[in-house]
Amino acid sequence: MARKAGQSTLHQAKSGKKDEFYTQLSDIERELIHYEHHFANKTVLCNCDDISASNFAKYFISNFERLGLKRLICSCYNNSDNNLLNQIDISTHGKFAVYDGSKSKTSYKVTSLKGNGDFRSFECQSLLEQADIVVTNPPFSLFREYIAQIMEFGKKFLVISNINAITYKEIFSLIAKNKVWLGINLGRGISGFIVPEHYPLYGLETKVNELGQRIVATNNCMWLTNLDHTARHDFLPLTQRYQGHEDSYPYYDNCPAINVNRTKDIPCDYFGLMGVPITFLHKFNPAQFEVVRFRKGDDGKDLKIAGKPTYFRILIRPRSAQSQTA
Ligand SMILES: C[S@@+](CC[C@H](N)C(=O)[O-])C[C@H]1O[C@@H](n2cnc3c(N)ncnc32)[C@H](O)[C@@H]1O
Repeated sequence: MARKAGQSTLHQAKSGKKDEFYTQLSDIERELIHYEHHFANKTVLCNCDDISASNFAKYFISNFERLGLKRLICSCYNNSDNNLLNQIDISTHGKFAVYDGSKSKTSYKVTSLKGNGDFRSFECQSLLEQADIVVTNPPFSLFREYIAQIMEFGKKFLVISNINAITYKEIFSLIAKNKVWLGINLGRGISGFIVPEHYPLYGLETKVNELGQRIVATNNCMWLTNLDHTARHDFLPLTQRYQGHEDSYPYYDNCPAINVNRTKDIPCDYFGLMGVPITFLHKFNPAQFEVVRFRKGDDGKDLKIAGKPTYFRILIRPRSAQSQTA
């Protein structure tokens, strides 16, 4: 029930362009620990972040020396009336700040932008050009455009997104081509987001943290990245068999593939096409499987079994018989 409510609130965040979910430091630390080796001598851009309020900024400033960073740039959109700490002037200007690791942790210079700090503006694009790695939680409502811009500029990134983004054709195609992949934490692995005082909490799974901030647990977010991490090279152990259990793996009406209801039920002795749940991508090792297609059968219609559409499935194929047992 609470999960349903959480999902519908994030849906409102998307459709109503209310992008007021702020990331907790503990969730950032839990993910970033897997990528630390990527950051030496790099310029990091957090382009949906107020340097004085964002926990992404806090993380990179606190860990600046340890990671060996070159620079941190934060730019912040001015949507005037709905930021967490109400710290932006009521004007149309966004702002940006550059931190270069000076001893005093507050020694960054905040500069007003000419425009409102929209990540798509020319001035924010020129900040993006200076960056090596973009790390943030961007607005859910603009996620497709956000990733398209990063890919166009050829940047590395690590961002939070709604799990549903996997089903966007632009994002799925990047995943299938191995240009982007899921990070380490998803669902309950991201413990919740800070929401402003005026946010409606009715029916949500909420708590107040030790800092007095209101936290909403959504259970439907993930990290998306093109930074390598070791987990994506782990082989998924396959413990089930197809032979002798054919009835548990029915064929689709409109595609020569078997249906597998749970990732852990992928059989070790079937080497053709299989339809698996989208959460399989969290365990996806590109050396073990190939991602072939999303959701559709050979007729271009949703995959069906005995006339009934299945829940969203991804069609995958083992790379080779050897990769199943590696
Ligand atoms: C999901 S919140 C996350 C904020 C912050 N990155 C964090 O993780 O705590 C998304 C942020 O993007 C900002 N935003 C909305 N539209 C934007 C745009 N077009 N360009 C840049 N930032 C935008 C929102 O004001 C909001 O602060």
